[in-house]
Amino acid sequence: MSLLNNLKMKKSVVGVIGLGTMGSNLLLNISDHKLAGAGFDIDQKKVDLLLKNKRDNISATNELKTFVSFLEKPAKIILLVPAGPIVDSVLKDLIPLLSAGDVVIDGGNSYFKDTDRRFHTLKETGLHFMGMGVSGGEEGARFGPSIMPGGDESAYHSIESVLNAIAAIYKGEPCAAYMGNGPAGHYVKMVHNGIEYAMLQIIAETYSVLKKINKLDNVQIANIFKSWVKGELNGYLMESAIEVILRKDDLAEGFLIDHVLDVARSKGTGKWTSQDAMEVQVPVPSIDMAVAVRDLSSWIDLRKQLASRKTNELPAKKLKTTELKKAVSAAFMLCYAQGLHQIHKASEVYKFDTSLLQVVKNWRAGCIIRSGMLPVFKKAYEKNPSLVNILADEEIFKSIYVNIPSLSSIVLRTIQSGYTIPAIESCLSYFRMMTSDSLPMNVIQGLRDHFGAHTYERNDRTGIFHTDWAQPVK
Ligand code: 6PG
Repeated sequence: MSLLNNLKMKKSVVGVIGLGTMGSNLLLNISDHKLAGAGFDIDQKKVDLLLKNKRDNISATNELKTFVSFLEKPAKIILLVPAGPIVDSVLKDLIPLLSAGDVVIDGGNSYFKDTDRRFHTLKETGLHFMGMGVSGGEEGARFGPSIMPGGDESAYHSIESVLNAIAAIYKGEPCAAYMGNGPAGHYVKMVHNGIEYAMLQIIAETYSVLKKINKLDNVQIANIFKSWVKGELNGYLMESAIEVILRKDDLAEGFLIDHVLDVARSKGTGKWTSQDAMEVQVPVPSIDMAVAVRDLSSWIDLRKQLASRKTNELPAKKLKTTELKKAVSAAFMLCYAQGLHQIHKASEVYKFDTSLLQVVKNWRAGCIIRSGMLPVFKKAYEKNPSLVNILADEEIFKSIYVNIPSLSSIVLRTIQSGYTIPAIESCLSYFRMMTSDSLPMNVIQGLRDHFGAHTYERNDRTGIFHTDWAQPVK
């Protein structure tokens, strides 16, 4: 489309900055819904690529000022650029071109504390800034992502109808509800990714034990996963796992997965989830473990050197796949439990005022961690919107508890076979500890007081106590 045509077009209801895969697909999605959208990218090739789609309601340019002129007022602009300093540099160029009341929405995976800082900076200039999680990858952006908007609620309402139109729909409801104040949208997306890390790790561990202990090949493992997704384990990640396992390689013989290096990289959202879980003091051991295993995997030379010193000492104890399925089911639920608990506490600490009901509703379609479990969680939050942890819901507790014997047996047999499934193990430990009325913290309190006079509390009287450990008891 020529610049002249661009100018003749009706003003756009929304603009997108960053015409990479996510940005251009989101604009096509906007266009599908009969909404006029404008795109900007400094790279003219990306602009041309988008314009090749020849949509009447899409304009695009590599000039920022022209881009802003395409937009109706107040302007609504979604940034889909890599998280980090690029967001600040785009804002620096963009802010002078905008006027009070315009809304800038960061749709990338930005760190929530950066979003908070930007929110306050833009507020001083009369602009609204929103952090918005967008999940679902390329396919989601094109046909309906799960959208997690947060920030100024009035700004959200100004773009609500656009977000509802382009979001994934679950049983008639758009997955784009408002997530809360300030950087709540990016916080919820960050924890979504933390849960994603844990679930990915659990799937990888499940694949690994079926291969190493049960000695199954890729087709047999995929067939097991296929039978599981028909039932309680239905979900996007399990479905994706089947495709990944069965993909034939085009560079070498056999399956692609057998030629992929066993080192997992990351972009940081899992690590941030763990870090902030510690900040708000909510345990998320399965997310911590998933991050740790990715880090451990990068020590490949050291791992190989140490592996060569071992002889595999233990005979494999085959796992029952019916038990493994129940173990994975409990583990998945426990990952969601950890992440949702973190959002609940963070919402209190940071005053997000996030509705956990809206969070699980938003995750029912479009996002990476969508699964058949989300509607179950929705019911629990409908019964009790202020539920601290989904484990406290009787139905959910029962559905996990019934699978704990299988989870325990899988962990035990795996360890007895000389292998480890750390994320799955961490789910079992989490369950055991969260349901324990006697943790050995008395010993820790005693030791802290012994070596550092850190004091302790007692279970039989109130107050703070210290013992002079060097003195004999009177
Ligand atoms: C999504 C994904 C998306 C991205 C992850 C990958 O919801 O669409 O989570 O955001 O795939 O950020 O994260 P890592 O590269 O850190 O694994």
